[in-house]
Amino acid sequence: MGYRYLTTPIYYANGHPHLGHLYTTTVADILALHWRRCGDETLLLTGTDEHGINIQRAAESAGRTPQEQVDEISSSFRRTFDEFGLNRFDIFMRTTDPRHVAGAQQFWKRIAAGVSPKGNPNIYKGHYEGWFCAPCAAFKSDDELLKRDDGEVPLCIDHERPVDRVSEESYFFRLSDYQEFLIDVLENQPERIQPEARRNEVLSFVRRGLQDLSISRETRSVSWGIPVPGDSSHVMYVWLDALSNYITALGYGSDDETILNSHWENAVHLVGKDILRFHTVYWWAFLSAAGLSLPKTVYSHGMWLDSKGRKMGKTLGNVVDLTDLKGRFPVESIRYFLLRDMVFGQDGNFGYLNLIERTNADLANGLGNLSSRTLSMIQKYCDGVVPKVRDDVAIAALWPDFEKGLDDVRSRFLASFDRFQFSQALEELWTLIRRADLLISDNKPWVLAKSPEKRAELEAVLRISWETLRWVITLVYPVMPVSCTKLSGLLGFDLVSPNLLQVSLASDSRVSESSEIVFPRLIKEEIMSESNANVAPSIEEAATETIQTNSSEFITIDDFLKVQLRIGEIKVAERIPNADKLLRFEVDLGEGRNRQILAGLAEYYNPESLIGRKVVVVANLKPRKMRGLESEGMICAASLEDSDDNPAIATFLEHVNIGARLK
Ligand code: MSP
Repeated sequence: MGYRYLTTPIYYANGHPHLGHLYTTTVADILALHWRRCGDETLLLTGTDEHGINIQRAAESAGRTPQEQVDEISSSFRRTFDEFGLNRFDIFMRTTDPRHVAGAQQFWKRIAAGVSPKGNPNIYKGHYEGWFCAPCAAFKSDDELLKRDDGEVPLCIDHERPVDRVSEESYFFRLSDYQEFLIDVLENQPERIQPEARRNEVLSFVRRGLQDLSISRETRSVSWGIPVPGDSSHVMYVWLDALSNYITALGYGSDDETILNSHWENAVHLVGKDILRFHTVYWWAFLSAAGLSLPKTVYSHGMWLDSKGRKMGKTLGNVVDLTDLKGRFPVESIRYFLLRDMVFGQDGNFGYLNLIERTNADLANGLGNLSSRTLSMIQKYCDGVVPKVRDDVAIAALWPDFEKGLDDVRSRFLASFDRFQFSQALEELWTLIRRADLLISDNKPWVLAKSPEKRAELEAVLRISWETLRWVITLVYPVMPVSCTKLSGLLGFDLVSPNLLQVSLASDSRVSESSEIVFPRLIKEEIMSESNANVAPSIEEAATETIQTNSSEFITIDDFLKVQLRIGEIKVAERIPNADKLLRFEVDLGEGRNRQILAGLAEYYNPESLIGRKVVVVANLKPRKMRGLESEGMICAASLEDSDDNPAIATFLEHVNIGARLK
């Protein structure tokens, strides 16, 4: 058993929570539950960031005091988290909490008492002259601003809002002296930032050179903050105050630092990529200056984009209203979607239609349908008693190495979770669901049940299907705890006791007599009715190319071999500007270079979710141009069983090699 410490960012108390906030807290909630199930004592922190000019201004415009403002918004975050079942955190941090204020001041004092790696005082007083973006809570250099006509105040590139001119006395942190230290950490301790690509970004930022950082504001311009120790005419820079919450929450600077000592070195910060620089460059330098060790990993996730590919946020006013979202969708569909549809680290597309499709395909049709079929067949053909594994031969004939197969998926699932590759982890489990579905449709238990001599086969099909569900549900439990608890009750197994480190088959069991539907199908027209046009993507009719075949004509094997069908792995998948239906792929067919392939899948698949997927490619199709881009092959797909229009990309249940030919 190990100690873990997991944090979300603490959210600005200047506005109500939105999807971006819900996302990180949901991921953290799921991860904490997963780690706890794996036996690790996990401390989970979330909270609100309550100081600074932005909050002071939000309070002014709402006609209330800053304290009233932060009390109201902080409770709104707590309420929302509660409504979404996000109640597994141990600490809800508020930076106005007196214990934090005292701890942050201790942190300042420790930094001020020390010297930089070059032997200079860490903190010195000077004069700051420059631009400050209140929503970013960051000083901005010229290359981070959009210049406008002479005399007009420039705009922050991220927020597209005018920045403030600051000219005042300030305390500075000697960040420039920490450049070598940071480069050394970034180069030699790669696990400290995930994913890898983000580490390279931070590294090149640091290599470009660092300037000393202004870490205080005069109280005559910003009064709502933590006073600088020993100088009440200044308040601490809000990021120094906010970042230190991660350690003050563990007792830093108090009489009892036991929890800090046991948990800090295993800290994992989950942050959006927009605030990664603060959590690495600034935070690491501050920690080092105070003589503390660095967090184990800062994991940076991507952004949820709207249907036009723009980041969802308050600035553009395209946020998803969480009350509306909750009114339309079951909470656990949302949890599943958030984890499944964003490849952690990359951006993801959010839309109500995507959510409906994902829920129907994976939950109603996938997990839900397999569960209710299995349940009702065990009720009908076995009087509700789950068949014993009494005929290994029958099981082996249907699914060779069944137990080992489950165990392999289990270990790949856990490994993907460890790498924060949640989407891939879920894909692993759904491969099993598809395989069990196929087993049922190929072997037709309702036909087997008519012949007594087929009893062993019938029982083997039902047993395999039940056992597959038991493992899928056990592993996916942290993502959908309420639904999985219901399913385990219906199917009659214990969700708590399995040892997650090894698959073993269950002993006697009985399924319930109920036929409750745990994942009802979502009806598009109902969900989208009186929809908010700003949020929900328009319902467009899908037009897909259909391949005409003439089934009465036979071809010879030579004809067939003319078509080179090969396995390719999707390396890049992205939308094409101004083309609603096409996606552009770069696919590795094992040829030493990737092929560019265009396919009309944009309305059905979120491109990020396809990265890493192995697909079947017609490799010797004559290249042709679409929208000015050359397409060097075709990705094979079939129509989904419940809709002629919706394609399902052809894929394999087993692991297949890139470049392998279908024959
Ligand atoms: N208060 C700071 C964090 C201080 S932590 C010591 C802050 N707050 S925030 O409320 O603006 O944002 C918090 C988080 O929400 C960030 O991780 C940000 O990336 C995330 N998101 C905001 N919009 C988002 C999306 N559209 N998509 C995904 N996450 C997004 O920054």
